[in-house]
Amino acid sequence: MNDHAIEYPAEPWKIKSVEPIRQTSRPYREQAIRQAGWNPCLLRSEDVYIDLFTDSGTNAMSDRQWAALMTGDEAYAGARSFYVLERAVRTYYGYEHVIPVHQGRGGENIVSRCLIRPGSHIPGNMFFPSTRAHQELNGATFHDVVIDEAHDPSSDHPFKGDVDLAKLAAVIGEYGDAIPYVSLAATVNMAGGQPISMANLAAVRELTGRHGIPIMFDAARAVENAWFVKQREAGWGDRSIAEILLAMCSFTDGAVMSSKKDSFANIGGWIGLRDGELAERARSLALLYEGLHTYGGMAGRDMEAVARGIEESVEESSIRARVGQVEYLGHRLLAAGVPVVRPIGGHCVCIDALAVLPLLPREEFPGQTLAAALYVEGGIRGVERGGLSAGRDPVTGENRYPPMELVRLAIPRRVYTRAHLDMVADCVIRVHEERDRIKRGLRFVHEPSHLRFFQARFVPADGDSIFGG
Ligand code: F0G
Repeated sequence: MNDHAIEYPAEPWKIKSVEPIRQTSRPYREQAIRQAGWNPCLLRSEDVYIDLFTDSGTNAMSDRQWAALMTGDEAYAGARSFYVLERAVRTYYGYEHVIPVHQGRGGENIVSRCLIRPGSHIPGNMFFPSTRAHQELNGATFHDVVIDEAHDPSSDHPFKGDVDLAKLAAVIGEYGDAIPYVSLAATVNMAGGQPISMANLAAVRELTGRHGIPIMFDAARAVENAWFVKQREAGWGDRSIAEILLAMCSFTDGAVMSSKKDSFANIGGWIGLRDGELAERARSLALLYEGLHTYGGMAGRDMEAVARGIEESVEESSIRARVGQVEYLGHRLLAAGVPVVRPIGGHCVCIDALAVLPLLPREEFPGQTLAAALYVEGGIRGVERGGLSAGRDPVTGENRYPPMELVRLAIPRRVYTRAHLDMVADCVIRVHEERDRIKRGLRFVHEPSHLRFFQARFVPADGDSIFGG
């Protein structure tokens, strides 16, 4: 497996402010993970050396973003900062109506409440836990219509986020009028940050357009998606990231944005809509759940930082370095024979836990077990993306076991250096080489009803430790 070019694009920034982190001993970490119920999410961040739990809200803001914070207008109503944000979203994403929300799931709540009725059916290119949870809470059934390759970690398909048009047509054929919208994500997080192609977006638009079904876009990592379109899709190589982003959004009727991803902000989000009547309904719900429609749960300063972050996110040098860093880590692992999802995604490297720990039963959560082992080995925190994250079927109450059981290492933007990534790679390679030491998985001692991966607690399925004994 030495055919992977391991390149590392130099960063288009230098470091102005630093935050100390500390390495701990292995016995310390064993104690810490036990106290955290074998759930890395419940660790204190001070006990983590390299935190790859998420790329959400964990990004380093630029000096321009920090400066923009000082210009925030904190007026309750009609704050100037809202109009700054509105202009940025209109310019770069193209949605006429912009409603700020505190973060992505705030927007998911409002859009789901506006459009879903009990008995609704929502097709989408794979689920995201918070998105699907809001859909289901409002009475909808989610249908995964992503192409089969998205569920195959070893497939090198360049656009694993594409919709399988036959699957979508079948869902439309069966549920027709009960489909309030199609839910499209770019990139697809649960597939490992895999993009959707422009051609596929156009084809989905054409198909849904014939049936009068709108498309709601999850734009959290749409800039990363635009980068892949530019690299991989014929006809787009000469276009700017900003042009591609706008073209992608043009196929959709609205979007929910978590600004904690592409836009480098620590908090924030927005809903973007084209339909004025729907926007009016969303604004009135935002008032109840988020805040007045000109701040939506964000401080004025946060809206300034998001607006500035949007502009920075579409700079070509920025997105090249961002995705290049993720690919560097992925290719180092591939070169060492660690089974990771291919191609390497835009925001994360995902380890195939079923391939690393083939003997652990799914009921013992191999992904969660491997995530715990990585922490014990190197103080590195990743997150399970498999059976634990998938939760239980709301109708049968049974555990859902998606085809892939992954440990996601999400890379925050502009935060870690190449030396950090090398430490991560070395740690993962060591755990992989010594995988036979992981003898048992985990079982619940506390299982929350929603988004259980965040707060669940476990004990080793047998004995005192996942390492046996
Ligand atoms: N959609 C996608 C694709 C996401 O990845 C997330 C969050 C959300 C919506 C919800 O946004 O967190 O601002 O409420 N993803 C984070 C992650 C939590 O770690 O992948 P939010």
